[in-house]
Amino acid sequence: MYCKRFYFKFGVFIKYYITTPIFYVTNKPHIGTAYTVIIADILSRWHRLLGDDVFFLTGTDEHGEKVDEAAKKNNQTPQELVDKISKNFEELWKSLEITNNKFIRTTDKKHVDTVIKFLMEIYKKGDIYKGNYEGWYCVPDETFITELQLVDGKCPFCGRDVKKIIEQSYFFRLSKYQNKLLELYEQNPKFLMPKNKSQEIINRVKSGLNDISISRSTVKWGIELPMEKDHTVYVWFDALINYLSAIDWPNQNYKKYWPADLHLVGKEINWFHSVIWPAMLLSVGLDIPKTIFSHGWWTVDGKKMSKSLGNVVDPLEITKKYGNDALRYFFVREVPLGDDADFSEKALISRINGELVNDLGNLVYRTLSLAEKFTGEVKGNKELEEKINLEKIKEYMTDFNTFEAIEEIWSIVRNTNKYINEKEAWKLSGDELGSVLYNLLESLRVISILISPFMPETSEKIRKQLGNKIENLSDCKFKVYSGKIKKEGHLFEKIK
Ligand code: MSP
Repeated sequence: MYCKRFYFKFGVFIKYYITTPIFYVTNKPHIGTAYTVIIADILSRWHRLLGDDVFFLTGTDEHGEKVDEAAKKNNQTPQELVDKISKNFEELWKSLEITNNKFIRTTDKKHVDTVIKFLMEIYKKGDIYKGNYEGWYCVPDETFITELQLVDGKCPFCGRDVKKIIEQSYFFRLSKYQNKLLELYEQNPKFLMPKNKSQEIINRVKSGLNDISISRSTVKWGIELPMEKDHTVYVWFDALINYLSAIDWPNQNYKKYWPADLHLVGKEINWFHSVIWPAMLLSVGLDIPKTIFSHGWWTVDGKKMSKSLGNVVDPLEITKKYGNDALRYFFVREVPLGDDADFSEKALISRINGELVNDLGNLVYRTLSLAEKFTGEVKGNKELEEKINLEKIKEYMTDFNTFEAIEEIWSIVRNTNKYINEKEAWKLSGDELGSVLYNLLESLRVISILISPFMPETSEKIRKQLGNKIENLSDCKFKVYSGKIKKEGHLFEKIK
């Protein structure tokens, strides 16, 4: 777990609460799941660099019908199954150097108690009533589906079989919140992100909201519904509340981090986060998160990942072969955060050889080779400093535009390489070389800070070779040179 740090900016306490969805334990982690967590990690590290007190949450979603079914198939109890698989997730994130502050499990007692309290609050508001549910249910997606939504009799979201359910159920008055939600979207333009996808949600809410079923009387593996113990809480209602139980709601401590600054989610679960979750919060009278950002989906070699196609890519296999940083770089460089993208090892290798080896790796190697032999004084003009547009990078990151931010950082890398060529640095000596080296080494120092959220291991390797201390964003300007060069081998190996 990452150590929590506290900072004050101009006397004001800046917190940043960021979450990923909590993962179903029935799905093996793959590069799609790793994507959400890696992007959240990049944003968390960026905010730490800004000096914010970051609280980064991830975890596992452990109740519901499909866990029950999976456990039966394995001759295990559901608890045995979730204990084992939740551990796998936690360990995977450790191997990927994810800096989450907390790993929540929905079977944690604290979470279970919080769900009960939260439901009782909604109940007191008169927003829960008993009725009968008749319709369809997609077990793999844990989603209720109406007759009208069915596509050729299958789940409209995943295309798999659905089952008919007719049972007593408790309902949440979602319909009551239609206008309030529309007002919320109108008044908070950063709530639904990315902007080009928000209209879809707004239109659906405008077309009318139905009350939703929030309990199952035929599913046993779940949190007991406080109003009727024979029912369990619908797994999505249970899961969303993790964002509050993790920060100790309803104890007053929760105010330190609430409202969440960012719920990062995949596009297929945007509805739950952009519509159902704010309605639940409005009912209880709690503040609404600042942003729900829905990111795109990764296919593999053009196809959706699935067990039957055998194309599920294990992130650990990739990182063992190419390193954590290469995968992180690829994720942000390949596609803007809201768009879908395709993963292939060929595309990854091309980024590694083209950009990591040729651009960044070469820049570091060339600069350090020159610096290592230089015995004069490293000082001079600051001609490369003006090429560093820190404000622009900050703006991109504030807008969750990691794609443009890394592009902007890479333009610094490329300019610095170009500078070596234009100056024909290898031909220089004395003060002239001292001045060029000053620009190169200071640019590299700044680059190592800027890439640290994206490629923490590479940043650290550069910093060590430059002989610099750990720094933060305010150190991204040229200073008096004070490094101690310790040149090592190449940062990245070319892949055949
Ligand atoms: N348990 C729910 C979330 C509850 S949050 C209160 C869930 N779990 S999940 O395991 O199915 O998905 C977790 C995340 O992984 C989602 O954000 C989802 O979009 C993401 N991804 C799963 N497959 C993906 C790709 N192929 N590509 C990108 N992200 C994908 O939903």
